[in-house]
Amino acid sequence: MRVLSGIQPSGALHIGNYLGAIRQYLALQESNDAFYFVANYHALTSVRNAEILRGYVFDVMVDFLALGLDPDRATLFVQSDVPETTELAWLLTTVTPMGWLEKCVSYKDKVQQGLPSDHGLFAYPVLQAADILIYDADVVPVGQDQKQHLEITRDIAERFNHVYGKGADVFKLPKPYILDTVSVVPGIDGRKMSKSYNNTIEIFDDPTIITKKVKKIVTDSTAVEAPKNPDTCPLFGLFKLFANADELTEVERRYREGGVGYGEMKKRLAEVIIAAFGPARERRADWAAHPERVAQVRAAGAERARKAARVVLDRARNACGVA
Ligand code: ADP
Ligand code: TRP
Repeated sequence: MRVLSGIQPSGALHIGNYLGAIRQYLALQESNDAFYFVANYHALTSVRNAEILRGYVFDVMVDFLALGLDPDRATLFVQSDVPETTELAWLLTTVTPMGWLEKCVSYKDKVQQGLPSDHGLFAYPVLQAADILIYDADVVPVGQDQKQHLEITRDIAERFNHVYGKGADVFKLPKPYILDTVSVVPGIDGRKMSKSYNNTIEIFDDPTIITKKVKKIVTDSTAVEAPKNPDTCPLFGLFKLFANADELTEVERRYREGGVGYGEMKKRLAEVIIAAFGPARERRADWAAHPERVAQVRAAGAERARKAARVVLDRARNACGVA
């Protein structure tokens, strides 16, 4: 199977990105043909400083490598190194009804948060469709917030196939891969963890900062000795995504019986998060100290990605008559 996904370089990656997306990237690179990229064309809709953008792109590449995405197994690349994508985006845009984009929740949310409502932000899902369709992706691992974009991608592919296919499909129809257990990871205020809500715990935050942020997680005022419902506790909600089976059984039992306090849980939660990224933190320092190696990975990924993209772009150009 061809697996494909991308993340915008618009700030440091957080544990919502890790649990909702990157952990699945890691699992899927094992026995599939995986393509993972840094979506810097998309980031232009929110990052308006060239130096900062270049820095974020480098950081996400380094984060990918540190977390275990493996350039020998997966194709790791930067979106703008494959300019074919923007040409395909134009072809797709000509068969995309305005109404499909007008109903996009992500667009409306972003405008409400104060992003400029440029045409790029409006047409964002068409570029995303191009990202996916140009690699003949079968499966796209993402968090729940991307579900609508995946639906639009399929709708655009079907429409293009219908208009230009002449019996043979131009595009493959991709499927989203969204795990229920981590589809929406909560942030320290209980809302969806997101850069734009300022409620994130960053993967490579300093351990003292992680501990501080975990302490801020909002809980109720149930006393230590009182029984608690683990299913509605934000601390437990995050703890269970990092803890091993034994720890989980022990803590869950004590929640139900009473006797576990939020102070203790915050301490343990910070510990499991810090431990989960310990080895990655070391690998990160090593990659960051060798930008030339990161550049090599980027260049090799671009070459592979571009080759694959060219085939599909040519198919689309032929189908609609511009070639
Ligand atoms: P943000 O909302 O912080 O800007 P991105 O939009 O860059 O995050 O998301 C990159 C990937 O991480 C996407 O696949 C997205 O669905 C996933 N993701 C982001 N936040 C969460 C979350 N809180 N829970 C689950 N998945 C998430
Ligand atoms: N829109 C995605 C996000 O905000 C990033 C993205 C761009 C993407 N192109 C993609 C994700 C293609 C999956 C496939 O997270």
